[in-house]
Amino acid sequence: MTPVSLPPVAMARTKRTRRAMTKTIPAIVSAGRKTKPNPLLLVLLLSLCLADTSGAATNPSLSPNTNSNTNANTKKRLNEETLNQNLLKMEYAVRGTVVIAADRIAGELRNGSKQTPTTTKKHPFSKIVYTNIGNPQSVGQKPLTWPRQVSALVDLPNEVGIDHPKAQELFPADAIARAREIKRGLGGHGSGAYSHSKGAACFREDVLSFLRQRDGEEVPTDIEDVFLANGASAAISHLLTALVSDPACGIMIPTPQYPIYSATIDLLGGRRVGYYLDERNKWNLNLEELERSLKEAREQGTNVVGFVLINPGNPTGAVLSREAVRDVVRFCSRHNLVLLADEVYQENVYDEDAEFYSCKRAAYDVGFLGSEPGTEAIELASFHSTSKGVFGECGRRGGYMELTGFDQTIKDQLYKLASASLCSGLNGQCMTALMCRGPSPGDESYESHEAEKTAIFESLKKRARIVEEGLDAIPGFSCQPAQGSMYCFPSVELPQGAIDRAREEGKTPDTLYALSLLERTGICVVPASGFGQEAGRYGFRTTFLPPEDDMARSVEAMKVHHQEFCERYS
Ligand SMILES: Cc1ncc(COP(=O)(O)O)c(C=O)c1O
Repeated sequence: MTPVSLPPVAMARTKRTRRAMTKTIPAIVSAGRKTKPNPLLLVLLLSLCLADTSGAATNPSLSPNTNSNTNANTKKRLNEETLNQNLLKMEYAVRGTVVIAADRIAGELRNGSKQTPTTTKKHPFSKIVYTNIGNPQSVGQKPLTWPRQVSALVDLPNEVGIDHPKAQELFPADAIARAREIKRGLGGHGSGAYSHSKGAACFREDVLSFLRQRDGEEVPTDIEDVFLANGASAAISHLLTALVSDPACGIMIPTPQYPIYSATIDLLGGRRVGYYLDERNKWNLNLEELERSLKEAREQGTNVVGFVLINPGNPTGAVLSREAVRDVVRFCSRHNLVLLADEVYQENVYDEDAEFYSCKRAAYDVGFLGSEPGTEAIELASFHSTSKGVFGECGRRGGYMELTGFDQTIKDQLYKLASASLCSGLNGQCMTALMCRGPSPGDESYESHEAEKTAIFESLKKRARIVEEGLDAIPGFSCQPAQGSMYCFPSVELPQGAIDRAREEGKTPDTLYALSLLERTGICVVPASGFGQEAGRYGFRTTFLPPEDDMARSVEAMKVHHQEFCERYS
């Protein structure tokens, strides 16, 4: 098997020891700064140029378009040719072509009132069912009450919040007490002030207590290794920025993968090194495939520096076994690769035979965490988020990165990078802390908070089953079990006529299919090609986040559409 969209490669990577690696990363980073500017720096410079347009307008040597105010035909300073070409190349399927079409149709549906009884209806449905993105509250999931109560009290000035005479009538005592504790922890500055660039210490303490509870007290933790971030996305981007130091750098990413990885690697000008997940085996990992992919990339001159694991999987829905997670940890240690453990779906495990097993715990269990700091046999960055689980607080932009086994110099550089954006949003930091430490047993909100979480979880589990079984039963579809996360990723047999038509129209066959599904049924999915897949496989990713009734109707509509689509193109 050859990866479909792997970029060309140029330079052979020599085998390095762990010690050499820890020396090399800072060296590459600083060398990159002296010789080849990092693409992010280019973006920064570009934005500085733009920020300085007033000066440029009066300085002809800086601005070739000095007449831009008087000549409308003069090319803009920033155009497709001058734009960072990595940005032009970058794609992000989850909000791509099909979603743009869906938004247009949604607008037309909103304006539908202009139709008269004599005009024919343009669309055979009354609403768009958005299943393209894991954004639970956008499709009806209610926020959990207690975290929002605490969060609101943290934001409100004391006199209209925690100290208001009627606060006790409106808010449970434990929400008021937690808000008071947080306000104290923020040093009296409240949520409107910048915090420490890694996040407020009181919030990071809550992350530590979560980690100790999850992985066991015996697994070492350090508050200085936890970085709160604007969602996992920001932390992933920071780590990749540190890793991709020149155009020969490669990061191993799963195929299929969540496109933040391909997009960020493209933006940074690095190389994607795809490894295939095994669809026939519930999208499991296969060590031989990892070795094949790494060997091939190195032979082609790629300096493979990192490895991304998404567990539970997006888009696959797979939950890896303990053995598979340990295999990955050993693989990364053996080949001196920084492991990026994307564990944002760690609470979304529905299969009773599956369990979430963190890479950190796996590293501890295989003996890689050493008894002394600095003796770890792995460099691991783990990510978690408030956007998933049962919180679904995507808009808060909360999450964290925990570093394990990195050199102090690298931690300092990552701290500097975080400092360059001052700090992550305080609402996101606060939500992360509340996700990590909820009310305790015996607290007024404990029972209701647990009940709300269980109701959301059970409903997700039910929807996972409805969609997975429903899709798998459609003739021409094959859908692996959704053991976890929020997605199904069926493969769909397409008639040759559709494949030919797509080629004529310059689209991928599954984009043609997804657009047809949207136009005929109003269901918005993401073509599988946006996540990467084996050549000749077609399909799409759907979430199971819309309400149960919508999901059941959607599966039925997908079945009818598939039959009609096949007839149309046969
Ligand atoms: C696997 C994976 N990682 C990271 C993210 C980003 O999450 P956040 O909202 O925390 O940035 C997502 C979002 O869907 C995801 O699916």
